[in-house]
Amino acid sequence: MNEVLGLADVSVVRGRKDLLTDINWQVKEGERWVVLGPNGAGKTTLLQIAGARMHPTRGLAGVLGEVLGAVDVFELRPRIGLSSASLANHIPEQENVLNVVLTASYGMTGRWREAYEKLDERRAFTLLHDWGMSTMINRPFSTLSEGERKRVQIARALMTDPELLLLDEPGAGLDLAGREDLVARLSELAADEESPAMVLVTHHLEEIPPGFTHVLLMREGGIVAAGPIEDTLTEENLSETFNMPLSLRAEGGRFSAVAKR
Ligand SMILES: Nc1ncnc2c1ncn2[C@@H]1O[C@H](COP(=O)(O)OP(=O)(O)OP(=O)(O)O)[C@@H](O)[C@H]1O
Ligand SMILES: [Mg+2]
Repeated sequence: MNEVLGLADVSVVRGRKDLLTDINWQVKEGERWVVLGPNGAGKTTLLQIAGARMHPTRGLAGVLGEVLGAVDVFELRPRIGLSSASLANHIPEQENVLNVVLTASYGMTGRWREAYEKLDERRAFTLLHDWGMSTMINRPFSTLSEGERKRVQIARALMTDPELLLLDEPGAGLDLAGREDLVARLSELAADEESPAMVLVTHHLEEIPPGFTHVLLMREGGIVAAGPIEDTLTEENLSETFNMPLSLRAEGGRFSAVAKR
């Protein structure tokens, strides 16, 4: 299996603070990873590296066969789909839903722009339809509910047909039905062999979509444990990650955790 991500002793330092320390992590084609860890553990920073938005201070970061620092990131970025709150904050208020998705493909196309535009538009329509947003394509993004925004952002992240899909807390702010809908959709996406490798950051074990294969547990800029969900997502590892005795439940491919009493 091909390596999609390969981080070797990656550290990120800002001022005097170590955001990430000696991270060693590989993601291979076909894998679907969940990243868990307390606030400030470095999850978003890790995704910034994986998305070629940030370079490591030390160490080597291989992304889709290229090494960060030795590649034109503007060629690399379209191969990576990223959905995050900070990216969503940059969407202009009046931008309509179709454009939010469509503009993800800008910069990729050259000479045959006009022909591409039709193809791009069709792809954006199809993605919005798949994510249950086809009736809202003309709505300004700013008028959408949180759940609708999240689905548009994922459609946008998929627009360039990426080889790696990075989702930073896609379930944040969703109500129970919205969360369950998202989990089901992500589970379906994970089951599709054509889907890119995926990395999903979340705070809630309930948001782990069935079919996700691996878990990375982070704490204070480092890795507590990483590997297949079935042997890595244990009470012991989870308790160490959150520095609190936790009891873990797994049922029908779904997970939850509460403090041990
Ligand atoms: N530019 C920066 N300068 C200094 N510290 C930073 C900078 N960016 C992030 N940090 C700090 O690095 C740590 C890791 O941040 P990061 O956003 O990666 O955490 P996270 O695991 O995504 O947290 P959350 O779950 O709250 O989203 C935090 O303590 C944050 O305050
Ligand atoms: Mg974060």
